[in-house]
Amino acid sequence: MLVLPVKNRTPDRPPENLVEVRDLHFSYEDNAVLKGVNLAIPRGKVVAILGVSGCGKSTLLRHFGGQLKPSRGSVTFDGQVVHELGNKRLYALRRKMGMMFQVSGLFSDLSVYENLAYPMREHTDLPEDVIHDLVLMKLHAVGLRGAHALRTGELSGGMARRVALARAIALDPMLIMYDEPFAGLDPISLNTIAELIRHLNDALGLTSVLVTYDVPESLKIADYVYFLHEGVVVAEGDVAEITDSKDPFVQQFVHAAPDGPVAFQYPSRPFPEELDLAQAEPPDESA
Ligand SMILES: Nc1ncnc2c1ncn2[C@@H]1O[C@H](COP(=O)(O)OP(=O)(O)O)[C@@H](O)[C@H]1O
Ligand SMILES: [Mg+2]
Repeated sequence: MLVLPVKNRTPDRPPENLVEVRDLHFSYEDNAVLKGVNLAIPRGKVVAILGVSGCGKSTLLRHFGGQLKPSRGSVTFDGQVVHELGNKRLYALRRKMGMMFQVSGLFSDLSVYENLAYPMREHTDLPEDVIHDLVLMKLHAVGLRGAHALRTGELSGGMARRVALARAIALDPMLIMYDEPFAGLDPISLNTIAELIRHLNDALGLTSVLVTYDVPESLKIADYVYFLHEGVVVAEGDVAEITDSKDPFVQQFVHAAPDGPVAFQYPSRPFPEELDLAQAEPPDESA
């Protein structure tokens, strides 16, 4: 386990876990999505949260930045309970988080350079020459310094994802969150992004959380893995533990088996009942 026990903490040391999710419940109206999630993201680590589409991964991430409020439980970021913060402190907290979403959200009419300069101008008072150097440094980190003058609409999918990554680190966040960072990429771009996630985490001293359905790719770069299913964490471990796990749920995921604890069949009535076979009239022998 990466999570150190509470007694090791001293008041003058920040908590070991940058993020702690405790008994988190959340529903969209009557659709209960999160039903008591418990997990921790230790500082300096890359943590993957895996689960099928629709299991609530993006919903979970939206609690980190306080875009959603839990109906029960809490998310603590750097020692602060997110849902208890007022607007001003919430915005200050969000500045410590970078995000990279599948839908990159870049301004396609602007240049790569302007896409990165924008959040810096918006959130800091830095002079333009400092912004210039910072933008080029961030682009250099993702291998795209030479592409600064291109419009993002001209970029390939993999390059656009890298620009989004550079923008996510633009304000030197403590935490970077990736929502489906691998979706829709060709194998080479996918590997590039995966290696960048790991490399930037370690080189910049970040903490990273990625939510995805891509198990093999996550196992290549994560320090610790959680499996989310039906609103709770059903399995967790480091990569060796997950790879060797005999847990049927983990096995199904790691081997991408179509059926298992995650059922192939949508819940249904028994087939004979559904086809009305039980009620079928026996053939009339007398006719
Ligand atoms: N804004 C929303 N309003 C209502 N229901 C939503 C909303 N966003 C997601 N959901 C529902 O919540 C569940 C979890 O969605 P989501 O967190 O996006 O899953 P994931 O990211 O794991 O694919 C799904 O059933 C989805 O339909
Ligand atoms: Mg999602």
